[in-house]
Amino acid sequence: MNDPLFDIRGKSIVVAGAGSGLGRAVARALIARGARVTVADISTESLIALGTELGKDVLSCPTDITSEKQANALMARAAERFGAVDGVINTAGILRIAPALEMKEETFRQSMDINVTGAFLLSRAAARAMEGKGGRIIHFASVSSFVSNINYAAYATSKAAMWQLTRVLAREWAPKGITVNSIGPAMTETGMTVDYMSDGAFRAQALASIPMGRFGSPDDLIGMVVLLLAPAGAFITGQTLYIDGGRTLV
Ligand SMILES: NC(=O)c1ccc[n+]([C@@H]2O[C@H](COP(=O)([O-])OP(=O)(O)OC[C@H]3O[C@@H](n4cnc5c(N)ncnc54)[C@H](O)[C@@H]3O)[C@@H](O)[C@H]2O)c1
Repeated sequence: MNDPLFDIRGKSIVVAGAGSGLGRAVARALIARGARVTVADISTESLIALGTELGKDVLSCPTDITSEKQANALMARAAERFGAVDGVINTAGILRIAPALEMKEETFRQSMDINVTGAFLLSRAAARAMEGKGGRIIHFASVSSFVSNINYAAYATSKAAMWQLTRVLAREWAPKGITVNSIGPAMTETGMTVDYMSDGAFRAQALASIPMGRFGSPDDLIGMVVLLLAPAGAFITGQTLYIDGGRTLV
């Protein structure tokens, strides 16, 4: 049975950062539920691999979300192909971990540029594409929007900024029928984290900080993504929803 509350069949959804990890899992899950999906990433190679896996019904657009021109072009292509942009999911991001005194200025600036400015520009492009019709915008924040891990000055600051960006844009665009929310996952093994997680001490410490005693899995996040895109999520806006096995409770 297709529960109408959670029915996303036919919706045109853009997934930015879909070339790897969580975005790739989200794109797969949306296609399995009948959505019409546009995948975007700065990495053309990863998009080619994804296109081969997902098939010809998926629109693939190389996009750097820190370029407003490219973000606008992405929405235009999705609208042209699928008639509208109903939802935009932003899973593009970078993680750089280093002690604050040793972190290169460039690393901090790049983290803010991709994780914050990119999120802002992509949101704006999405809102323009949704004008007059409404829609759903979902960012991938992090437990780092809230917890203050040492060596996370760049990443945690950028993800905390995303928390507030979500709230401000949600207020500004509520009258347009556009919801803006963020999902905050706990540590999950993906291309972003695999190197850090291969360090035994890092891994053990990260695991010990999750009350439910395991790392996240991409599958943990799909239910929330579907909820925020579906009729059931129509009145949820401005929230950062942590799906983290209790990580933000400690
Ligand atoms: N994996 C985790 O443990 C974890 C935990 C909490 C939050 N998150 C967040 O979830 C999101 C997805 O993480 P992931 O683990 O799948 O990471 P990932 O590195 O596997 O994938 C991120 C993707 O973003 C793309 N990207 C980077 N810069 C871009 C740009 N300027 N324009 C377009 N695409 C760009 C990369 O090419 C990559 O394909 C990120 O925002 C991350 O911060 C991840």
